[in-house]
Amino acid sequence: MPAASAPSSTRRQLSLPYDELATPDQLSAPERQVWEAARAATAHSYAPYSHFHVGAALLLADGTVFQGTNQENAAYPSGLCAERTALFGLAGSQLGTVPRIIGMAVAGRPAQGEFTAALPCGACRQVMLESEMRQGQSIWLLLPGSAGTVLRFERLADLLPFHFSPSDLPPRL
Ligand code: THU
Repeated sequence: MPAASAPSSTRRQLSLPYDELATPDQLSAPERQVWEAARAATAHSYAPYSHFHVGAALLLADGTVFQGTNQENAAYPSGLCAERTALFGLAGSQLGTVPRIIGMAVAGRPAQGEFTAALPCGACRQVMLESEMRQGQSIWLLLPGSAGTVLRFERLADLLPFHFSPSDLPPRL
């Protein structure tokens, strides 16, 4: 009997490119605009249960800014994160009639307190990815990291490696 060949495996490593800015002062004017819009949006968050107010802002190619906030509910899973409120709100009401999205920013803070790190949850990353795929052009992203840093990504897809996407579905009948 031939000796069973050893199973082969390859250790691979992903790298995730992003810029870490020490402060928002290093942002360009359009980046700063959407960064501030995300922070301002937190005033409209409805978060009576978590007391964590999240804002998201989308910068469109004509300079328009579209905002969203987290919307909670006494039936907890019925609530929605700020990122998806913004993306679904725009897509559901205006997509096709407005220019494409070029940039996005997120902000978060406790009800009583300073802005803090706020990174999108997995479900939001999935929706962010598909929003970018739908328009066929990349969307840059600004996220608040720890200690007042800004994390800048070139495209939303970078946040979700090994994602599930429309191409994973069977062909339509
Ligand atoms: N939240 C967001 O709005 N975005 C995220 O990506 C993470 C979490 C909201 C959901 C909930 O209202 C609160 O933050 C606490 O989880």
